[in-house]
Amino acid sequence: MRNKALILSTAILSLVLMGCPPKTGETGGAAATTDAGGEILVGEFGSLTGSEATFGQSTHNGIMLAIDEVNAAGGVNNRKIRVLTEDDQSKAEEAANAVTKLISQNNVVSILGEVASSNSLAAAPICQQNKVPMITPSSTNPRVTEVGDYIFRMCFIDPYQGEAMANYLTKELKLKRAAILIDVKSDYSTGLAQYFERTFTANGGQIVGKQSYSKGDSDFRSQLTAIKAANPQVIFVPGYYNDIGQIAIQARDLGMSQPLAGGDGWESPKLIEIGGKALEGCFYSNHYHVDDPAPAVRTFVQKYQERYGAKPDALAALGYDSAKVLAEAIKRAGKTDGPALRDAIAQTKGYLGVTGLINLGPDRNPVGKKLAILEIRNGQTALKGIVDPNASAGAAAGATDTTGTTASAATTGTTGSTPTTGTTRTQ
Ligand code: PHE
Repeated sequence: MRNKALILSTAILSLVLMGCPPKTGETGGAAATTDAGGEILVGEFGSLTGSEATFGQSTHNGIMLAIDEVNAAGGVNNRKIRVLTEDDQSKAEEAANAVTKLISQNNVVSILGEVASSNSLAAAPICQQNKVPMITPSSTNPRVTEVGDYIFRMCFIDPYQGEAMANYLTKELKLKRAAILIDVKSDYSTGLAQYFERTFTANGGQIVGKQSYSKGDSDFRSQLTAIKAANPQVIFVPGYYNDIGQIAIQARDLGMSQPLAGGDGWESPKLIEIGGKALEGCFYSNHYHVDDPAPAVRTFVQKYQERYGAKPDALAALGYDSAKVLAEAIKRAGKTDGPALRDAIAQTKGYLGVTGLINLGPDRNPVGKKLAILEIRNGQTALKGIVDPNASAGAAAGATDTTGTTASAATTGTTGSTPTTGTTRTQ
């Protein structure tokens, strides 16, 4: 059996070497290789090196933990899954190259990645054209899944995240004057800034200054000086951890003491390592919190720590959930051709992941995922609140000292209980 599979893949390999790669735009994924038995090849592309290296590394760790568990339990439909990983060096052009290689040379049946929305946007059209389902664990820009019906995600999207942070700042912290500092090279940053502004101003807040930078910049002083002159109460910086650390340090150097606030792009073990004390009292929104008492989170954190000797961040959790959802879909499909696998992924409903319940909607985004608001205190992140669209307004109202509710979600302060029940606030 093993030999047969080997001979078959060697035969196909020589076909490829002879210059007959599977034509793009047809069946895609050369499912014949894998449907013949043997290993199921899944591709992963990510930023294992470069400016957002921890995004790719954590995601990879989460994916490998999940796939090794699946394989240890016998694999999927009696076949093992093998992950082929390509490093895109945190660059969009390389992301496109990586995906092209995984599809045309490796004949993967599906692709996991990327984290940064710009990198997912560069790769998604290639997956779509080749009918190879792509699942991004953590790209939050709405346009990513709009590329087509083969593109899925496991995380919430930026309109939701921007609204949540704007609500938190205006309603909880009563801050009404904000400045925004945007990375104009990043689809994530420009999108999130826009969604944040929409809710912030709808809530009666004012954007008193708007400045921009480009990925790769290291001096933010002129932008920060202009922001300082506008005297905001908070600075919203929807960027990635590397830049955030530098921006915080330079802001403090300029004598600015306002909190910075941002989105999930801050999430990295390097954030506080880089920014240090300059980040005390700053806030960001995230997909999960490592101290969440939910059993799925506790089990995951324990297994991850045992294997990697470090605490998992949100990227690891989303990478793990993505790989598990994909494995389940392959199992349900019973085959691995692109259209069958696409349909099976689209039918993902009620999957209890580490990052919450995953129900994919018709637009291939999960519906109703919860969001955590974190504050950096004493060099660590502390959970300040959970936005849970599934916690009914009634449940929230029943809790002691709840925070405000919004049209789309209930925000409850939390300490140590599951968010869905509505919780007591003890900060
Ligand atoms: N949401 C970010 C993006 O779309 C990526 C990200 C997700 C970063 C989760 C950190 C944590 O670009």
